[in-house]
Amino acid sequence: MQNFNFNLPTEIVFGKDCVSSLGKKAAPYGKNVLVMYGGGSVKRNGVLDKVLASLEGYNITELGGVEPNPRITTVRKGIAVAKEKKIDFIVAVGGGSTIDCAKAVAGGVYFNDDPWLFMLDNSLFPTKALPLLTVLTLAATGSEMNGNFVITNWETNDKLACFSPFIIPKISFMDPEFTFTVNKYQTACGTADIMSHIFEVYFDPNDEAFVSDKLCEALLLTCIKYGPVAVKDPTDYEARSNLMWAGTLAINKLLNCGKQGVSWAVHGMEHQLSAYHDITHGAGLAILTPAWMEYVLCDETVDKFARYAEAVWGIKDDDKYAAARQAISRTKYFFASLGLPSTQREAGIKEKYFAEMAEKAHRFSDTEAAYFPLKEEDIVKIYEKCY
Ligand code: NZQ
Ligand code: ZN
Repeated sequence: MQNFNFNLPTEIVFGKDCVSSLGKKAAPYGKNVLVMYGGGSVKRNGVLDKVLASLEGYNITELGGVEPNPRITTVRKGIAVAKEKKIDFIVAVGGGSTIDCAKAVAGGVYFNDDPWLFMLDNSLFPTKALPLLTVLTLAATGSEMNGNFVITNWETNDKLACFSPFIIPKISFMDPEFTFTVNKYQTACGTADIMSHIFEVYFDPNDEAFVSDKLCEALLLTCIKYGPVAVKDPTDYEARSNLMWAGTLAINKLLNCGKQGVSWAVHGMEHQLSAYHDITHGAGLAILTPAWMEYVLCDETVDKFARYAEAVWGIKDDDKYAAARQAISRTKYFFASLGLPSTQREAGIKEKYFAEMAEKAHRFSDTEAAYFPLKEEDIVKIYEKCY
């Protein structure tokens, strides 16, 4: 096991009606609050009303319209509003896109230049930020308990990730009932995203982090058990609550403890798919993950894939390659069974920009420092494989 530091500063308030305590819990953060949300789902399902009711007595400024794959233009707008209204803290109500956008705004108010600059160079990100509280409405990204955010620039077709310890949410309110209205497709995409976060950590050169591997397998089993239930019955509380908590645990650094830690190759490749085609992150991951698994299966990786086969899919075979291939195929069919695309064509992608996308994935995501190092030509082959 490797040495590690682990510090999780986010308070999680989980369960039915938890948002009613938002107003009381937000008191230390000031009076002027910016409430950010997406394209309107939180208005339609009544979540926003509950948030606003809990915040009664605060000076509330609303900023809706954060798009899926949130844009730098919206970040700029948010920063301008936050400065004009002298905002003390932000409440982000939504999925990963709204929360990520709020993180960029929270830091961006202390940055005296264009925020795209800190997306290009993370070291420029300010060392302070407005306090951020979140009300999660979609189980997927884990943004509610981490310091990551991902922003897209349509002028340059770039989708870039940034990390800062200063924008980790102070408190996240997680009511599984708020996810009852997430449609089948987004539920499936969220499940694929959670599983991908686990895979990116599970497949690591250090195989001595037994605790982490077991946690990864438990969370993968949770997704495999409850993803299909939530897709079939969106109001199944047990399924929604287990997925919601699994989503948080998958990417709050708990799983990384004791691991070597490698670059996230599949995420690196997917961010380019979204940046060029604006497809949903989880759908891109469902397409790429099995193709990546097939591509990296070799003598160095087969033992881990055979372990994955047995622990997660119950596949036992003396032939390790046979077990690994079956597990990869089960993974692919699992995503398809949730209604997710298996190829880019199925996702409606017509153009191929593979060389450009591979160059960016390689440069922005350091894919040569991944579990299985990928050069640009490897990435092009993986894109081709799942076209
Ligand atoms: O915009 P609204 O109207 O709210 O609708 C959203 C959106 O259309 C809808 N939705 C959310 N909650 C709902 C709901 N619809 C009905 N009922 C609800 N309760 O779902 C759609 C997708 O929402 P979005 O926030 O885009 O989804 P997600 O949470 O998957 O976030 C995706 C973004 O997060 C980034 C992705 O790249 C992508 O940009 N990621 C962020 C990470 C992080 N911060 O750690 C890590 C991830 O790997 C990921 O890269
Ligand atoms: Zn992801």
